[in-house]
This record gives sequence, C-alpha cells and structure tokens, in this order.
Amino acid sequence: MTMVWNPRTLLVGAALLLPGGAIAETKSAGQLAYETHCVACHMVDSRWVGPSLVKMVETYPDGEVEAFLAWVKNPGKKDPKMIQMPAMSHLPEDVVTDIHNYVVQVTEGKVEKRGRHHFKGFKEPERKLPYVVRSFMPHSSPASILIKLPGDLNACWDTEACRFRYVWSDEKTINTSGRGEPKFGAPPQYRETAPSLWSFADGVKPQFKGYRLIEGYPEFDYAYGAIQIREKVVNGAEPGTVLRQFNLLGVTDGIVMDLTDEGVAMISADAGRLADGKLTLTREEAASFTLNISQP
Ligand code: HEC
Repeated sequence: MTMVWNPRTLLVGAALLLPGGAIAETKSAGQLAYETHCVACHMVDSRWVGPSLVKMVETYPDGEVEAFLAWVKNPGKKDPKMIQMPAMSHLPEDVVTDIHNYVVQVTEGKVEKRGRHHFKGFKEPERKLPYVVRSFMPHSSPASILIKLPGDLNACWDTEACRFRYVWSDEKTINTSGRGEPKFGAPPQYRETAPSLWSFADGVKPQFKGYRLIEGYPEFDYAYGAIQIREKVVNGAEPGTVLRQFNLLGVTDGIVMDLTDEGVAMISADAGRLADGKLTLTREEAASFTLNISQP
C-alpha cells in the first residue's frame, strides 16, 4: 500500500496492515471505520450514548445513504435525552458510505434490546498497539480521539479544539467503561492548560482536516488561517515518553507556544528556547520540531 494522502486508504486500509504488510483481519472497511469512529456512542442492538444501529437503519434503510451522509456531516438535534452528536465532517463520503453498508448488513434480522444499560461496559476489541479510537474523555470535546500507545501510555487529542489535551497511564485516571460522565479519577501525568497553545491562534478558529495513520501512529492535520500544521504523536525512544512531531507551513514570523501544563511529566523541545513554559521558535525552527513529554 502506498503512502498517498488519501484519507480512505489511510484511515481505513491502514488498519488492515501489520508491519511487513501482512493482512491482519478480514473485517470490512465499513466495520473498521465504525469501530474507529462510531462505536464509542453507537452499539449494534442497544441504545447507548446515541441510538442503536438497529434504530439507525429504520431511519436510514438500505438506499437512503444520501440522508445518512448528510446527518453524519452535519448532525441535527433530535432526541432531547441525548447529547448532540459531534459532526464527522472530516470523514470522506466513501468511508461513511462503507459504514452505512455495514450498518445495513450487521443489523439484518436484529431487533433492539429493551432498556438502556444491558451492556456490560465498553469492551475494546483486541487490537495491536498503537491504535486510535474515538472515545469520551473528560475535559475535552466529544469529538476527541484516544491514542493508545505501546508501553501503557494513553493520550487524548481533541479534533474540535485541534489540540493535544493530556497523557496518562494510570488506569484510575479515566474510567473508559463508557458509564457515567467522563471525569478524572486521578490527575493525568501531563495536561496542557493554556487557553491558547499557539501565539497565532488567539481568536482564530482552527480547522480540522483529518488524520492519517502511519504504522498505527496518528498524524493530525489542521490549520489556523494560512498556517497549516501536522502533528504526529508517537512513542519516544525512552520508555514512558511521548513525542509530538510538528511540521508548520505558512509561518511568516517567529512563534511562541504556550506549554503551560499541570502534572508530573516534563516537557522538552529539540528546537527553540523553552522558558517559563513558553517555547519560542523562529520561523525556520517552526517548520519542523519535536516536543518530548517524559514521565518522571
Ligand atoms: C460522541 C458520540 C457519538 C459518536 C462518536 C457518533 N455519534 Fe451518531 N449520534 C450520537 C447521538 C448522541 C445521537 C442522537 C442525537 C439526537 O437524537 O439528537 C446520534 C445519532 C446518530 C444517527 C441517527 C440520526 C437520526 O436521524 O436519528 C446516525 C445515523 C448516526 N448518529 C451516525 C453516526 C455515525 C455513522 C458515526 C460514526 C462515523 C457516529 N454516529 C458517531 C452520538 C455519536
């Protein structure tokens, strides 16, 4: 598989490949995409954060893919007892069409189980690390991505605010069973707290463009006006470290990153000057640099 910037191959197809290119599983593209982007809120035959797939297919049966696409891109507000579904506008239409096909297929002959809490906690499917999954996490928007890294490290990346939120490894930190309001049970090791991360971001709304997976590690693609950012999250060489590799395009001046944080982890950078939690980078340095978050 070639590494072209094609969200379909990269978001979905990549999950099929093990290092060395072996085919890992024979799930359909639609199932894989559903398990990455929808399973946090939608179960097959019981109501959860959102309606079940059985309910979904009543509203959007086979052949109604246009209306399904329209909803997923720009969800409305229907059920007053449910939260609003976050928009999935970063997913290409063919991926959402694959999901719709999967929804039609997997619900065939199924009826919705009555009641809401039949289901015993959210069981992550067994997967090879690293991987990403959309999940509910505290202090981040509902459109957040959980990054599971090798070495018992987890990170939260918010696709609405377009920013890295925090890192944790202690399982007490976040209850990921899906029950109840997401909240911290223990403080995360590292959490960014500045209202705005980038000096050029004040008052500018970021635009999330999607992400691709490179050997399972996510690289996020977003923009502030003319400035385009790629941020890849990977393990560092030292155990317990997380690297954030940045590439900025369109920077015309020096920039400052406000890395004010809480927690016990340390942050360092391979470029610029880091003082009082602020990283100052020249225009040239901003083009490519890496932040290192290390555990004590
Ligand atoms: C963060 C939670 C969340 C995620 C993730 C999520 N949804 Fe939803 N979804 C909801 C909620 C909540 C509702 C009900 C909203 C309402 O009724 O106002 C909903 C409703 C729906 C509906 C029913 C719309 C209708 O007209 O009744 C469809 C279809 C749907 N989602 C598709 C998807 C697909 C496809 C994905 C994955 C690409 C997805 N959702 C991911 C929370 C989510």
